Amino acid sequence: MNTLILNKSDKLEIAAKILQNGGLVVSPTETVYGLCANALNEKAVESIFWAKGRPSDNPLIVHIASLDMLRDLVLEIPDDANKLINTFWPGPLTLIFKAKKDIIPNKTRANLDTVAIRFPANPIMLELIKISGLPLAAPSANTSGKPSPTNINRVIEDLSGKVDCIIDGGNSKIGIESTIIDVSDKRIKLLRPGFITLKMLEDTLKKTVYAPKNHFPIAPGMKYKHYAPNANLIIVDADSTQKVINRMHELIKEDMLENRKIGVLVVDEMLDFFENIPSLSLGSLQLLEDIASNLFEKLRQLDDLKLEKVYTIYLHDIGLAESIMNRLLKACNNQIIRLEDKK
Ligand code: TXA
Ligand code: MG
Repeated sequence: MNTLILNKSDKLEIAAKILQNGGLVVSPTETVYGLCANALNEKAVESIFWAKGRPSDNPLIVHIASLDMLRDLVLEIPDDANKLINTFWPGPLTLIFKAKKDIIPNKTRANLDTVAIRFPANPIMLELIKISGLPLAAPSANTSGKPSPTNINRVIEDLSGKVDCIIDGGNSKIGIESTIIDVSDKRIKLLRPGFITLKMLEDTLKKTVYAPKNHFPIAPGMKYKHYAPNANLIIVDADSTQKVINRMHELIKEDMLENRKIGVLVVDEMLDFFENIPSLSLGSLQLLEDIASNLFEKLRQLDDLKLEKVYTIYLHDIGLAESIMNRLLKACNNQIIRLEDKK
């Protein structure tokens, strides 16, 4: 398949036509790039799963550009959902509703009674939905298991030849995927942490939101291997930055004896301590928003460097740091070396 590349200044009519004909279009969103198809066309949705190599029991998020579209897709809009919609839409928040099952195909929902809906804030994505007139199913535009793409080069790496069209929208602003909250039940649950934090949700709802311990994700898709670079990525943690740096150096020394290609993925404040070692920075600790938006691209750069083993850090803050750690822990397959682990 020939993949058409469109620029942000190009007309989106061609992309909208492709979607209306059941094709696949990658569009930027404010979180990460999305692999879009008509959410109501079972065949089109099937090709999303094929292009990503995604397990079919992992449901998709349906993207809308008006509240009328929402009303067409869901059985009810609870009061709490309305509060969240008024505060955070358009934006990086996905809500789970009871689905109109006769309208939304089983494939889109992975046979669940519920559907995930998001009203994104990116102007290109919004226009694409509006011109096509379609609700768009859109998972992150990566091969399943790889870090979500936050620029067009990474989309091309994974999906060139597998999709009809890719729209270049520059770097994704937020860089981690939307927060997912389930409002389909009395007990409101956070399913995936994101840029919109638990505190922001609770402040808006003025009630407790159930969040699994350590924000352990309970969205169906979160059980799969995720965000994994080829290198064996391991977190090193201690009660001070200096101890983390020292421990990393000890570990690297041991690894060097085995001639391994070792690197570190740290923060600006630590870079000076790793001058002779392949090192990448996630950004400054003072700017967690930057760390979030850099994270997935840096994970992909570890692959470009062909590193075998990489040590990285733990962010202990609450809020956005927890959402970043949710992704980083998955990328590490939960491998953490804590200083007290030293034998
Ligand atoms: O920011 C985002 O949400 C991006 C952009 C493209 O919008 N999309 C995204 O989609 O991250 P994806 O498919 O990579 O992640 C969707 C997550 C999966 O973990 C899936 O299991 C969960 O949403 N999900 C979808 N429908 C659900 C449902 N009905 N109930 C519970 N979880 C659901
Ligand atoms: Mg994804």
